[in-house]
Amino acid sequence: MASPPKELGVGELAERAGVAVSALHFYEAKGLIHSVRSSGNQRRYARSVLRRLAVIKVAQRVGLPLAAIAQALDALPSGRTPTVADWRRLSAAWKLELDERIKTLTQLRDQLDGCIGCGCLSLRACPLRNAQDTLAQEGAGPHFR
Ligand code: FES
Repeated sequence: MASPPKELGVGELAERAGVAVSALHFYEAKGLIHSVRSSGNQRRYARSVLRRLAVIKVAQRVGLPLAAIAQALDALPSGRTPTVADWRRLSAAWKLELDERIKTLTQLRDQLDGCIGCGCLSLRACPLRNAQDTLAQEGAGPHFR
C-alpha cells in the first residue's frame, strides 16, 4: 500500500478539512496556516495543517476571535509537527478564556431574566444596555425617574 503524500494541494486540503478554498486563503493571509510553493508555484500544505484547521474550526465554533486563535497557533512550535502536549497547552489556555466567557454569558442570561417584563432598556439602568452601570447591581428596572 502506498503511503499518503506528505503535502496536500489546496483543493485536497479543502476537501479533507471540509472548508472552502477561499477560507484556506483567508486563514493563510491571517497567518493561521502556512504553505510552501511547488515548482509550478502552487500552494502545498503539510499534512499537519489538517489538525490546525480542525482546531481553528472548533475554536471558531466556541466563539474565540480569530486574533486569539492566531496568537495561540503562533505559540505552537515551528519546524516540527505539534505534539499532544503542545495541543494540550493550547487548549488549557483557551479553557481559561472559555470559562471567562461562560461566566459573562451566565451573568448576561441572569440579567436578561430581570429585563424580561421590564423592557425599559434604560441607558442608565439596564444591565443589558449598559453593562458597566453600577446601579444595575441594585436590580432590574429603571432607577431614575
Ligand atoms: S430592560 Fe433591562 S432593566 Fe429594563
